[in-house]
Amino acid sequence: MIRSIQDKALLNNGVEMPWLGLGVWKAKDGNEVIRAVQTAIAAGYRSIDTAAVYNNESGVGAAIRQCGVPREELFIATKLWNSNQGYTQTVQAFHESLQKLRLDYLDLYLIHWPVKETYKETWQAFLDLYEQGKIRAIGVSNFQDYHINELLSFSGIIPAVNQVELHPRLTQKPLLAFCKEKGIQVEAWSPLMRGQFLDHPVLMNLAKLHAKSVAQIILRWNLQNNVIVIPKSVTKQRIIENTGIFDFELSAEELSAIDSLHADHRLGADPNKY
Ligand SMILES: NC(=O)c1ccc[n+]([C@@H]2O[C@H](COP(=O)([O-])OP(=O)(O)OC[C@H]3O[C@@H](n4cnc5c(N)ncnc54)[C@H](OP(=O)(O)O)[C@@H]3O)[C@@H](O)[C@H]2O)c1
Repeated sequence: MIRSIQDKALLNNGVEMPWLGLGVWKAKDGNEVIRAVQTAIAAGYRSIDTAAVYNNESGVGAAIRQCGVPREELFIATKLWNSNQGYTQTVQAFHESLQKLRLDYLDLYLIHWPVKETYKETWQAFLDLYEQGKIRAIGVSNFQDYHINELLSFSGIIPAVNQVELHPRLTQKPLLAFCKEKGIQVEAWSPLMRGQFLDHPVLMNLAKLHAKSVAQIILRWNLQNNVIVIPKSVTKQRIIENTGIFDFELSAEELSAIDSLHADHRLGADPNKY
């Protein structure tokens, strides 16, 4: 049972990753992202999810340096962008990210999307960087079961994490079952559907019953499904609100009621078309 902001998921290589992190897509580099990360860390977050393509790794790095929490207590993840896939490009892009973040290691590095032609070579570079101790855990994002099976047949090394679009309109049950069987931790991106679904009557009713916000209900549903969440916000009150997910429990019926909102609806690109 996940009961505290300090609780962590145990990844398949023994590394622990917080169940709650701050997403920073669309947070502007400079003051906006620095303030968001600092607010989050002050509110108890220890995990930050950025990406090379978000163009805010420098701001995330600045916030980390100023936050007063020791580096080893933080969990910093970034992602390799598509145009930098391939062995040599990956190694170079990894070092550029590290430099922008001003870190000497990453906690988690993800292949952002499964670019068909290159993701195997990219994975080989990830494995080598991992072996060299520069990354504590390596994973993928937006990978379907067959992409992961291909990585496995090629390298035999299982990704620690698969970060995918996951929310009440896209519950990802088959992929969750596949990842569970393989020992891959699933992490939800756009867990709040970018705020577009917060007025659904089923969710509003549950929020009322638990005296919580709809955002908190959705995040808790994820935690009870063993899914890591990284809601994005640059608003202090929401960053704090999104931590209020450890002091209540949804019943099995309530979890099913949320599951039944699934409509196979994606906000982002379809990984099958990459
Ligand atoms: N791997 C990938 O391909 C991929 C793709 C997309 C996203 N991601 C990651 O996942 C993170 C989260 O996804 P996301 O940013 O797309 O969407 P999200 O977290 O579902 O939603 C973010 C939006 O919801 C608002 N919000 C946050 N908390 C709220 C609350 N308690 N009540 C009402 N509104 C709230 C935010 O507004 P304010 O900021 O204005 O407060 C923002 O507009 C990203 O930041 C990124 O780190 C990864």
